[in-house]
Amino acid sequence: MFIDTHAHLFYPNFEEDLDQVIQNAVEAKVDYILVPATDLKTAEKVIELTEKYEMIYGAVGVHPHDTKDWDSSFNQKIEKLVKHDKIVAIGEIGLDYYYDFSPKEKQIEAFKSQIDIALKLDLPLIIHNRESDEDMMNIIRDYCGAGLKAQFHCYNGSLDDAIELLSMNFMISFTGNITFKKADDLRRIVRHVPPDQILLETDSPFMTPVPFRGKRNEPAYVNYIAEQIAAVKDLRVEDVARITSFNAFRIFGIGSKPDTVFTYKLGDALYINVTNRCNAHCVFCKRKDDPYLRGYHLGMETTDEPNAEVYINEIGDPTMYKEIVFCGYGEPTIRWDVVKTVAKYIKENGGKTRLNTNGHGNAINKRDITPELNSLIDVVSISLNTFNPKQYSKLMGLNVSYFNEMIKFAKSAKQFVEKVVMSIVSVDEVDIERSRKIAEENIGAEFRVREYF
Ligand code: NI
Repeated sequence: MFIDTHAHLFYPNFEEDLDQVIQNAVEAKVDYILVPATDLKTAEKVIELTEKYEMIYGAVGVHPHDTKDWDSSFNQKIEKLVKHDKIVAIGEIGLDYYYDFSPKEKQIEAFKSQIDIALKLDLPLIIHNRESDEDMMNIIRDYCGAGLKAQFHCYNGSLDDAIELLSMNFMISFTGNITFKKADDLRRIVRHVPPDQILLETDSPFMTPVPFRGKRNEPAYVNYIAEQIAAVKDLRVEDVARITSFNAFRIFGIGSKPDTVFTYKLGDALYINVTNRCNAHCVFCKRKDDPYLRGYHLGMETTDEPNAEVYINEIGDPTMYKEIVFCGYGEPTIRWDVVKTVAKYIKENGGKTRLNTNGHGNAINKRDITPELNSLIDVVSISLNTFNPKQYSKLMGLNVSYFNEMIKFAKSAKQFVEKVVMSIVSVDEVDIERSRKIAEENIGAEFRVREYF
């Protein structure tokens, strides 16, 4: 369920009872633990741990505290150590001006050298940063576009820096410090990190979460951090576990790729993954290249598309959910008969239904399907995308006539369902107010802006 991406299990205070600590982790549903070294000596210990315990993976690198003796011979030594099967990253490395155990110049030299190794070997980095934000951000900016993959561990920088790092596609993780009473600023940053860019970590033996603050930290406590993230981001703990485990798989290759789901839970709603096919080719759509959503795998071939029975069996009692949404990365009206059969089952059994569509259902089915929404679909959500037909055509990779097609669908659908919602993704080029006008005044729909991070 959980992956603790940062635990220094080679510390002397684990020597006595490491088997028990591992057992505790297993019982707390920790599937894997990533142990980052802090210097070359501990790198050897990390490798031993990965060989002894199946659930342990490692990272090799020199921590800023230990860079005072850094010289170029370290490069070769690190390159040799990372060849080991279960070493999946360069770490932990970075800058630390709080303690100043090593001179700044040495820290920077070692940090940059190790970034270069990671780039050369295509490995992710595990980055430590304390009181060195300005130099850290300048160095990272210098590498922008070079293809760096990195986790900013135990994040304690500013919200602005976090937003910049996220825009460069890096991952961020937080430790027990987000459970502390006075951590409102950190929790505010947690709220801003998209789920797809957050990792779980304990930083054992340090940074122990509440209610064990003051004691030695261990991987079994990672669920307290997951609970805090879930609370802040209004997710379930299972969602945080699934999403962060998938994130760890994407950056470190630990664990496995999730199987395709036909139905999936998000919040209080159940989603029906109808198809991965679509008549449009939207510029912002991840359907083909990266069909994952919140740790769920939604990709499927046409031949794998299940029939209505499969969905109905998975739904069970529809009153268990606030609503059941026909969705996925494809366009659900491509399989309109299946949607209708499943929707009929949901309505007959007291559930609520919503259809998320691009509004091209009439063109796709070559007839007006909007009267068929009647008593089967409660809410229709349509991607308006923009008020401008030309821009619409460009964003969706379709003929400009599809804009009117969508508007017509929305107007007509209004007569047959409880509510029509029209949404746009907030990107700079789209005029939100003019789009709102079309939705609210021309169509009488509700208008919603979706965040695009
Ligand atoms: Ni650490």
